[in-house]
Amino acid sequence: MATAVYDRIGIGYAELRRPDPRIARQVHDHLGAARTVVNVGAGTGSYEPDLDLVAVEPSRKMLSQRRSTAPAVRAVAEALPFRDGAFDAALAILTTHHWSDLEQGLAELTRVSRRQVVLTWDQAFTAEHFWFLTDYLPEAAERERDLRALDAVLGVWPQARVEPVLIPWDCTDGFFAAYWRRPEAYLVPAARQAISGLALMPQALVEEAVAQLGRDLSSGVWADRHADLLGRDVLDCGYRLVVRD
Ligand SMILES: C[S@@+](CC[C@H](N)C(=O)[O-])C[C@H]1O[C@@H](n2cnc3c(N)ncnc32)[C@H](O)[C@@H]1O
Repeated sequence: MATAVYDRIGIGYAELRRPDPRIARQVHDHLGAARTVVNVGAGTGSYEPDLDLVAVEPSRKMLSQRRSTAPAVRAVAEALPFRDGAFDAALAILTTHHWSDLEQGLAELTRVSRRQVVLTWDQAFTAEHFWFLTDYLPEAAERERDLRALDAVLGVWPQARVEPVLIPWDCTDGFFAAYWRRPEAYLVPAARQAISGLALMPQALVEEAVAQLGRDLSSGVWADRHADLLGRDVLDCGYRLVVRD
């Protein structure tokens, strides 16, 4: 089972990747009247609604950090151990880009549930607009373009609805762009470890990027360049909810 990645990089995940209540509300609003939910790629249980829920997660390290008491099954999206139509809805939050076979995983979601809610991101938007990528780590922007995120999901579900998820400046979930107005957070190794887009990059490149960011923060270059961000409360960083029913 494809557990290795999050068994390795999932240390400390529960602490640094706390679900953001505003994003949770937006996700839950799309569950409609669902009473039974499967959360695939559930990790530590972020964004799980208080409904009749089963979590699916391949990594033991992530399972060991689960904050929810909902039952969890160790399995992968590509082979869900449930009967057809077993759930009203399926959730897949910031996980589809890790699947070894996205098409098979999405087919499994549609097989076992009547409605699907996926949180992913528009990687072309992020690669072009997110300052950490454009200014400090263009190599990660290249990797972004190769990831199977929004485009790939819409390739399978062309009729799905897409809704932007704006990221609050004080987002509690430390995913890649979460610190768009708190740049000093990227200087903290533990925060970077909880971001797969950084943890899976060659660390020499990341350290070089972060060293430059540190210098730009000390000199005021970052603040001058991004003065517009400091007055904003939310930002479109490219995150998108894909809803299919
Ligand atoms: C960034 S974490 C997101 C976890 C959680 N959904 C959240 O929002 O915090 C990605 C998760 O996808 C899981 N994952 C990786 N490959 C998977 C697969 N093939 N099927 C299901 N989950 C997978 C990882 O183990 C990890 O827990």
